[in-house]
Amino acid sequence: MAAALALSERTRARTYPNPNVGCVLVRDGAVVGRGWTQPGGRPHAEAMALDQAGERARGATAYVTLEPCAHASPRGPACADLLVAAGIARAAVALGDPDPRTDGSGIARLRAAGIAVDVGIGADAARRAMAGFLARRALRRPHVTLKLALSLDGAAAMADGRSQWITGPEARAHAHLERARHEAILVGRGTWEADRPRLDVRLAGLEGRTPLRVVLSAGAAAAGEGDWRWINSPAQIDSLPADHLLVEGGARTAAAFLRADLVDRLLLYRAPILIGGGRTLPDIGLAALGDAHARWRLADSRQLGSDRLEVYERG
Ligand SMILES: NC(=O)c1ccc[n+]([C@@H]2O[C@H](COP(=O)([O-])OP(=O)(O)OC[C@H]3O[C@@H](n4cnc5c(N)ncnc54)[C@H](OP(=O)(O)O)[C@@H]3O)[C@@H](O)[C@H]2O)c1
Repeated sequence: MAAALALSERTRARTYPNPNVGCVLVRDGAVVGRGWTQPGGRPHAEAMALDQAGERARGATAYVTLEPCAHASPRGPACADLLVAAGIARAAVALGDPDPRTDGSGIARLRAAGIAVDVGIGADAARRAMAGFLARRALRRPHVTLKLALSLDGAAAMADGRSQWITGPEARAHAHLERARHEAILVGRGTWEADRPRLDVRLAGLEGRTPLRVVLSAGAAAAGEGDWRWINSPAQIDSLPADHLLVEGGARTAAAFLRADLVDRLLLYRAPILIGGGRTLPDIGLAALGDAHARWRLADSRQLGSDRLEVYERG
């Protein structure tokens, strides 16, 4: 399942509105097929893995990160039917598919055909791998990651607004990789005006992966520029054609998303510098200090050059 989850990451943010699923077929202890949802959402992971395995799929075990779909579409047959027709013997499924067209019926169809199905293996990791798809289904909005580059004393910019650069090249390269893992990226109008950021992906091999770029401004009747999209409240993110949104600041925009309880994941790049009197987060609507606790859980932490990355998820 871990291998299937790693495959699913290959097309994170490129399968919208479909989930990024991974699938590994194993027979007699050997991998006979590997698949992951292809850019644009088709072929599905199972179809790709079955295609690779051919006859070797008969009697195999399928490890799939999401319940195989039960609905045929003009773009392809239902994966549950494909797995049955290929004659697999067992399936391990990490998560049920909340899509009402499948929601249990994919697993039921496998079982009805005599296939042994285990559900829940690797469920937590699968929830993380398909966070965007699941947020869209459960919350009707994209999964939101807030990125902040901070000094040791918690400043996101100097008092006069200058913030280029707080972190070093390794942290900035990592932030570019994160951009490639999101369909959309957003900054506030203040940042858009102060920095005119390009918000593109400047990593070798990933230049084509620049997300949809969005500016938040209450006066967003402004038509915007080029292919930038403007929205006038955080709530409007539900209208973006994206399952993963990266919010890159500045501080007022970060606070607006936190106030609206629209942040699912925090990326804190902490540089070993002191700024003093810098711009920190404004009010995020906290009534009591106690309310601030147990909201965030450390999910990852690592060194990036001289900076420290901490990743937090909702607690
Ligand atoms: N360290 C970092 O990670 C980082 C990241 C990005 C930027 N920065 C720095 O931060 C500075 C800018 O930060 P900032 O806090 O001044 O500005 P900002 O957050 O980039 O933009 C503020 C603007 O966003 C819009 N906005 C914010 N909340 C809103 C809401 N709830 N509804 C509608 N619109 C909303 C408003 O635009 P309107 O006035 O048009 O309504 C507001 O004036 C820049 O100097 C930049 O270099 C630092």
